[in-house]
Amino acid sequence: MTENNLSSIPNEMLTRTRSLSIVIPTYNESKNIVKILDSLRAALTREMNAEIIVVDDNSPDGTSQTVEEYAKSSTNSGYSIQIIRRENKRGLSSAIVTGIERAKGDAVVVMDSDMSHPPQTIPQMVEELQSSDCDIVVASRYVKGGGVSGWPFKRKLISKGATKIAQHGLGIKIKDPMSGFFAFKRQIVNNIKFDAIGYKILLEILVKAKGAKVKEIPYTFINRTAGSSKLDLSVGVGYLQSIWKLYRYGKSVQASERRTSVHFLSKAGRFYTVGASGLLVNYFVSFLFGAVLSNLWYIYATMIGIVFSMSSNFILNKIWTFEDRKFDPRRTLMQYGLFLGFSGIGAVFQLLMVYGLVELRHVNYSIALFLAVAIASVGNFLLNKKWTFQE
Ligand code: GDD
Repeated sequence: MTENNLSSIPNEMLTRTRSLSIVIPTYNESKNIVKILDSLRAALTREMNAEIIVVDDNSPDGTSQTVEEYAKSSTNSGYSIQIIRRENKRGLSSAIVTGIERAKGDAVVVMDSDMSHPPQTIPQMVEELQSSDCDIVVASRYVKGGGVSGWPFKRKLISKGATKIAQHGLGIKIKDPMSGFFAFKRQIVNNIKFDAIGYKILLEILVKAKGAKVKEIPYTFINRTAGSSKLDLSVGVGYLQSIWKLYRYGKSVQASERRTSVHFLSKAGRFYTVGASGLLVNYFVSFLFGAVLSNLWYIYATMIGIVFSMSSNFILNKIWTFEDRKFDPRRTLMQYGLFLGFSGIGAVFQLLMVYGLVELRHVNYSIALFLAVAIASVGNFLLNKKWTFQE
C-alpha cells in the first residue's frame, strides 16, 4: 500500500450505507454497452446498492438511446442506471469528472464500457475499500497476478513508457498509475479542482488527493473485441500536457508548504543566471564610470564595476536564488563577506587552473578556460549554498 499523510476516511461510512456509484464513460460503444451492463448485473449484489452512471458524449452510433432502453427494461435489477448525455465529445477524463460530480455513492468505481475491465473485480475492490485502511483501490495490470491480454507490442511499449514518465516525473509509487479501472471513497475528491485533461484522471486524483492511501489489486486487461479505441495522437499530447500541469501543481504545493515560490529554473539555474547578469552589470557600470568621469583612471572604473556586480549578484542570489528574505543587518553583512570570499577563491582557483593547464599541461587556452570557469562556478554555487545561505 502506498500512502502519504492524510488520515483515511472512516470505513464505517461505507459499510453503513453500502452505496456505490459506477461511472462509465462512453463514446460510440453501442456494440459493447449492453454486454457490460449485463455483466455488471451479474457481478453486483443488491446489498451494494449501486447506481450506474453512463456519461455519453452524444455518440453518433446511438449509445445513449441503447442505455435508455436498457434502463427502462431493467427496473427491478437492484441497481439504478442513469445516463448523462453531453453535447460534444469532450474527452475521457472530463466525462469521468462529470460522472463523479453526479455520483451519490460513498464509493465510486470508474471503468471502461468495452469489457476490458472485468466487472467481476468490482466486489473485491469495494471489499478492499471497506476492510483495509485505504482510500483508493487501483485494479492493476502490473502487480503480481495482473496482466494484459490482446495488446500488440507497440501498445504495451507505449503503456510502459507512459507509466515510467508518470512514476518518475510525478514521483508516483504505484505500479499502474495509468489504470482506467479504479475505486475510491468519494470524499477524497471533494476538494479537488480537476483539470481533467486527456485520458488519465487517476493520475490527477493520485497527485491531488494528498495523503490518500492507495492499494493495488491485480486484474487482467482484456483488449476490446468490438468497437475501437479512441486513443490517438491528441490523447498522447494531452497526456504530456497533463503530466506537466500535475508536475507544476506538485511543485507549487511543495513551495507553499515551504513558503517559497515556484520557479521555472532550478537553484543552480538561477545562480548561473544571476552570474550572467553580473557580467552585464560589471560591463555597464565600468563603462559608465569610465565615460562619465573622464578623469577617473579606467582601472578604478573597472574596480567600481566589479564591486557593483558582486553586490548585485549577492542581493539577487539572496532574495531570488536562495529566497533568503530575512534582513538581519549583521547576518546579511556576514553573508556578503562570505559571498565575496568565495567569489575571490573562485577567481584565484580559475587563474591557477588556467595557468596550470596551459603552461604545464599545454592544453589549448579556450578549453582550459572553459574547464576552469565551469569548475569554479559549480564550486562557487555549492560553497555559497552550503555556507553563505546555509541550505
Ligand atoms: N464520454 C466519453 N467521451 N467517453 C470516452 C471518450 C470521450 O471523449 N473517449 C473515450 N471514451 C470512453 C470509451 O468509450 C471507453 O468506454 C473508455 O472511455 C476508454 O476508451 P478507449 O478509447 O477504449 O480506451 P483504451 O482502451 O484505448 O485505453 C484504455 O487503456 C488505458 C490504459 O492504458 C482505457 O482503459 C483507459 O481507461 C486506460 O487508462
